[in-house]
Amino acid sequence: METVETSTKTIALLGSTGSIGCNALEVIASNPQQYRVEALVAGQNIALLAEQVKRFQPRLVAVLNAEPARELRESLGPETPTEVLWGRDGCLRAATLEGVNTVISAITGAAGLEPTYAAVQSGKNVALANKETLVMAGDLVMRKAAENRVHILPIDSEHSAVLQSLQGHRREDLKRIILTASGGPFRDLSLEEMASVTPEQALNHPNWDMGPKVTVDSATLMNKGLEVIEARWLFGLYMSQIGVLIHPQSIIHSMAEYRDGSVIAQLGVPHMITPISYALSYPRHLETPIAPLDFHEIPALTFEAPDLERFRCLGLALQATETGASMPAVLNGANEIAVEAFLEGVLPYLGIPKLVERVMEMHVTHAIDTIEHVMEADAWARRTARDVLRRQDMKMR
Ligand SMILES: NC(=O)c1ccc[n+]([C@@H]2O[C@H](COP(=O)([O-])OP(=O)(O)OC[C@H]3O[C@@H](n4cnc5c(N)ncnc54)[C@H](OP(=O)(O)O)[C@@H]3O)[C@@H](O)[C@H]2O)c1
Repeated sequence: METVETSTKTIALLGSTGSIGCNALEVIASNPQQYRVEALVAGQNIALLAEQVKRFQPRLVAVLNAEPARELRESLGPETPTEVLWGRDGCLRAATLEGVNTVISAITGAAGLEPTYAAVQSGKNVALANKETLVMAGDLVMRKAAENRVHILPIDSEHSAVLQSLQGHRREDLKRIILTASGGPFRDLSLEEMASVTPEQALNHPNWDMGPKVTVDSATLMNKGLEVIEARWLFGLYMSQIGVLIHPQSIIHSMAEYRDGSVIAQLGVPHMITPISYALSYPRHLETPIAPLDFHEIPALTFEAPDLERFRCLGLALQATETGASMPAVLNGANEIAVEAFLEGVLPYLGIPKLVERVMEMHVTHAIDTIEHVMEADAWARRTARDVLRRQDMKMR
């Protein structure tokens, strides 16, 4: 990857009220000379968004629906000149806003794809947390980024670690990358024990504080599967060049192995401030409030192979990538419905891989040539997953 210019970055932050969004605003607030917020996008959390608008004074803000937009406009009062928009158009306007050079893509799920693609299309560099963008449309997005000469820099800690482990090395010397995974809260549970896992237990991640969807994905290891697909496109690798290793301490965030046997790893205290600030300051490293790693306090660094029988979601993601074309978008759409149903108490924990697998089995793979094709595959997967849930709910239990 080439060097990104270091002048002031003007930023549109998509998903500002989420876990990544709030951490990104802390990085920005700590470096006011280097970053300026021009636009914020959020979903429903109007109280927090209003605070953010007052603090960062963006030119434009967009929310999901009309009523919260009215509520926000009222709560900002006439003294705040920020333009308030809503819906798909508002989100796209923020993602493509003139005068913005960097878009932080941190909306959860498939909803992040369209604005992120629009940002790339309009020539913005992207700091990417929304892995679903590359899972669903990696080929299209990376091709458009190359065509428009824009950078897509990862916020995911694993991909940030890989990016750092690639610096100063020749690509032809790279043998493979190894993505680490904590293994989540159910690493040691048997399948019988997993059968009774509740949403509260799944939302309690041992090492990372994240939004609900990615936390459940981390528990099922679907998150690691999505990250494998993300890495494939981001770094232009073959699937055979991407390994996954369970590393419960989350100290080594990922590694790159070279043909002479050297392995370069990036280590650190697990906190998203570090990869967010690297994505914004690449190739430089900013000062952050994150404590340095205290090696005397780490009892051991341990590693194990992932168990694809107990963590079927990881296997399904690998299978979807092998199939390619529309299948990764279908995997992603079905998984979003499954996680939603699990969090609502409609689907048991082990129903998540079952539902995803069933939808994948029903899908007739088709080519993906446009973003519209991706959205069609996503819509089909959601519709089908909901149908399966409705018709066969009892069999899922
Ligand atoms: N959290 C992490 O540590 C982490 C690490 C690596 C990668 N990621 C990735 O980063 C992304 C965000 O994760 P997160 O943990 O920050 O999620 P989160 O805490 O649930 O936040 C999601 C954000 O997106 C907004 N949003 C959701 N749907 C929207 C829509 N349709 N239109 C506009 N805004 C919408 C939410 O707004 P409201 O809350 O206002 O409704 C919120 O600001 C995910 O793709 C995740 O996989 C997260």
